[in-house]
Amino acid sequence: MGKDVIIACDFPSAEETLAFLDRFEGKKPFVKIGMELFYAEGPEIVRAIKARGYRIFLDLKLHDIPNTVKKAMAVLSRLDVDLCNLHAAGTAEMMRAALEGLTRPDGTRPLLIAVTQLTSTDQEALERELLIEQPIDEVVLAYAENAKRAGLDGVVCSPLEAEKVHARCGAGFLTVTPGVRFADGDRGDQKRVMTPAQAKAIGSDYIVIGRPITAAADPVAAYERCCAEFID
Ligand code: C5P
Repeated sequence: MGKDVIIACDFPSAEETLAFLDRFEGKKPFVKIGMELFYAEGPEIVRAIKARGYRIFLDLKLHDIPNTVKKAMAVLSRLDVDLCNLHAAGTAEMMRAALEGLTRPDGTRPLLIAVTQLTSTDQEALERELLIEQPIDEVVLAYAENAKRAGLDGVVCSPLEAEKVHARCGAGFLTVTPGVRFADGDRGDQKRVMTPAQAKAIGSDYIVIGRPITAAADPVAAYERCCAEFID
């Protein structure tokens, strides 16, 4: 899998999601299914989107004891998703168990990436609530290294961290970056943003972009613009 644009399908129902995807006609964008849609519609929405030929990033951010995560990952693997994730804070043992669970009897498995620190966590919350005193950049890089040592394929990170993650963990370690906005677009609640062209320049492997496409008057044109800036 090379560089690609992943559309965050943050819709509350299967009906709205499938109607949105139908607008793309022959095209099959990579789509992200998050907690809202998955909890509303269950695994059936994953099967329905997969049956239509889309690649799926199932963004459920697992974090539990290793055995529970291993078994949950085995279920996600049978759903035939392409990419899924967990929290690196669950420890290397949990990440290794997740990989075991994900690996199918024929040796294939979806890609697995780790959330390092959520971009909604700032230095103050890190210190006061999580009692972690290191600078947040260092924490992100250390968690990314743990994920790499555990055998994972990459991390979800802010576009501003992608370059450092590649420098520390190697160019082949995937960086999947949300927080993408067009230069002339609305930022919404995203604070630290980059344009698709900037994300390309700093070496993001995948960008995750939701509202600039899902809320656009012409989502297909917005998606094509994003691909033109990021991939071409
Ligand atoms: O609409 P927007 O482009 O902001 O959507 C970004 C998507 O990426 C959302 O699904 C959001 O939950 C997800 N995400 C994020 N920041 C993170 C992790 C995930 O925006 N740190």
